[in-house]
Amino acid sequence: MTRRAVVKGVGHYLPDRVVPNSEFEKSLDTSHDWIVSRSGIHRRHFAADGQTTSDLATRAAQAALADAGIDGAEIDAIVLATSTADMTFPSAATMVQANIGNTKGYAFDVQAVCAGFVYALSNANALIASGQADRVLVIGAETFSRIMDWTDRSTCVLFGDGAGALVLSAEDGDGTSADRGILSTDLNSDGRYRDLLYVDGGVATQNTGVLRMEGKEVFRHAVEKLAQTAHTALEKVGLGADDVDWVVPHQANIRIIQSTAKKLGVGMDRVVVTVQDHGNTSAASIPLALSVGVANGQIKPGDLLVTEAIGGGLAWGAVVLRW
Ligand code: UT7
Repeated sequence: MTRRAVVKGVGHYLPDRVVPNSEFEKSLDTSHDWIVSRSGIHRRHFAADGQTTSDLATRAAQAALADAGIDGAEIDAIVLATSTADMTFPSAATMVQANIGNTKGYAFDVQAVCAGFVYALSNANALIASGQADRVLVIGAETFSRIMDWTDRSTCVLFGDGAGALVLSAEDGDGTSADRGILSTDLNSDGRYRDLLYVDGGVATQNTGVLRMEGKEVFRHAVEKLAQTAHTALEKVGLGADDVDWVVPHQANIRIIQSTAKKLGVGMDRVVVTVQDHGNTSAASIPLALSVGVANGQIKPGDLLVTEAIGGGLAWGAVVLRW
């Protein structure tokens, strides 16, 4: 018998305001065609004034709890991946905890930028596998619109706001790759590359700062590292690309998604793609894609999924799970 973290519910929330590429043409030397051809992005959602990351996270959490048929009070742990928490502290996770009426559990944020959801899933899996929790709410939520330099056309057209969430529950499996739930994880980081993607503010500068990115360099690392981490995670459970029903990648750029799928040996017909509608929502992108993939009938119970992501740090990783 092996204790597995099995997905019981999924949900997401996107702010009402949809911003098409054409909106940026008014204030920047850019075009819809450039944005689509270099990134695949057509539109993104931006949070309303006053709407915070914990607000988005709460809506996604409520949707996932409803899908699982579980009351928020019954959750043992909340792990929230974000780089745009409402405040320096307390964590956005504790705000969600209060909003869903949970007092018996514990809540904390995980900060691994765009790789955040993969890190959060891995941590949630460890909590369940070690017996420290039976039911874990795992959330990815971001308001990257709050950390954009609106004069920098090379970054501000790429990002969006949103949130997605999963409810994981402990179940006994046989210990084989046929089990439902999280089967393997692979986490990596290399702080030597911290200058490629960062926010130029924080506690040290006493201001929030804005995102800075060496896009071309990050792109180069992404293409090299994403297929590698996905392969490693699959190998850990004796699986290969042919076994994969769906790749659910971090949604930063359609060209990165395509190159990674090709390197992995998985056709684009087995990749969940939402980047055209959401832009890059950092830690929210994978749970958003999972929720959309289920809602539109792509992802079904029993399917083998591999998720992979890379972002600031650099931090990257993959999770293999059977839905
Ligand atoms: O989620 C975390 C991980 N992040 C990523 O994975 C992002 C990785 N990087 C990328 O997705 C791509 O590098 C970008 C989409 C950011 C840029 O695409 P690129 O093909 O690497 O373009 P580039 O940076 O080489 O820029 C090409 C040209 C430049 O002009 P010059 O120097 O060749 O004259 C840029 O100034 O395009 C220019 N440019 C733009 N033009 C119109 C940059 N941004 C824009 C823009 N509109 N918005």
